[in-house]
Amino acid sequence: MTDRWAAWVLERRFGDPGEAARTLESLAPVRERVLEGAQIEGGDTLLDVGAGDGLIAFGALSIIGDEGKVIFADVSQELLDVSRELAGELESLDRCEFVLARAENLSPLADESVDVVTTRSVVIYVEDKQRAFDEFHRVLKPGGRLSIFEPINRFTFPEPEGYFGGFDLTSVAPLVDRVKDTYDQLAGSGESTLIDFDERDLLDFAERAGFRKVELTYEAKIEHGGGAHWGSELGWETFIRIAPNPLAPSLAETIDQALTPEEAERFVAHMRPLFESKQGTARSAVAYLRAVKSAEGA
Ligand SMILES: C[S@@+](CC[C@H](N)C(=O)[O-])C[C@H]1O[C@@H](n2cnc3c(N)ncnc32)[C@H](O)[C@@H]1O
Repeated sequence: MTDRWAAWVLERRFGDPGEAARTLESLAPVRERVLEGAQIEGGDTLLDVGAGDGLIAFGALSIIGDEGKVIFADVSQELLDVSRELAGELESLDRCEFVLARAENLSPLADESVDVVTTRSVVIYVEDKQRAFDEFHRVLKPGGRLSIFEPINRFTFPEPEGYFGGFDLTSVAPLVDRVKDTYDQLAGSGESTLIDFDERDLLDFAERAGFRKVELTYEAKIEHGGGAHWGSELGWETFIRIAPNPLAPSLAETIDQALTPEEAERFVAHMRPLFESKQGTARSAVAYLRAVKSAEGA
């Protein structure tokens, strides 16, 4: 596997290959809501931007019918190839197209060429988010629909001093600082795209792009008695191998780089019991945005 997007979508997000089914199951309701928001009709041409391995796009394929078409767009040729192979296995290649393109530059697609644009957890990786929305608006036909899901990480980050992953590690605060610094370095400058917007910005981007009707549902949760991956029955060894997003290292990789073996032992000795006895606080927020391009196309 050569690119970081494919490495994450196909492997690193699961921590352990055995967790793939559980992760994908947890995404099923998100897929349903994005597809519902798109109000797909038989015969539609749907563009899924940042299609990954096809969570949304393959869901759409079963709704658009024999006359419809799904365009998979992604920056990763490797992921497009994975989806193409699966589409072949499903004998659906005649209803699929695969386009190497960025959300902020959909130039392979003509103006007013699709009925629906969907995207899940992609805008969060885009630096020029307004341009991405401008492009979604440009490629949609008059009356076309946009349906988006994005995590709102600004609700969760940055965490307070001494806190990590929702756990109070103030008694080893200097180690926490170094783990956080190393995490930021390894995650690279792109990391800031994850927290440089919130739900109000999404509404603004859509309105400024020209959408005449925009709706957004914001869901924020605070759950005491959990911490990162609250609610799942993940073991510690799997948890520390999960990369939370394609730009980020896993906790195991971060600790390895940030701390000496003795410090790592001390850090884990504090965090692991809190994780295993669910003594943390999970904070998370997401937004679903639906928008319609005016029938006059303006
Ligand atoms: C978190 S994954 C989501 C994949 C898929 N939408 C899903 O729901 O499973 C993010 C995807 O966005 C793609 N991506 C990253 N930056 C992008 C950009 N600027 N434009 C389009 N796609 C991008 C990655 O290759 C990856 O497939």
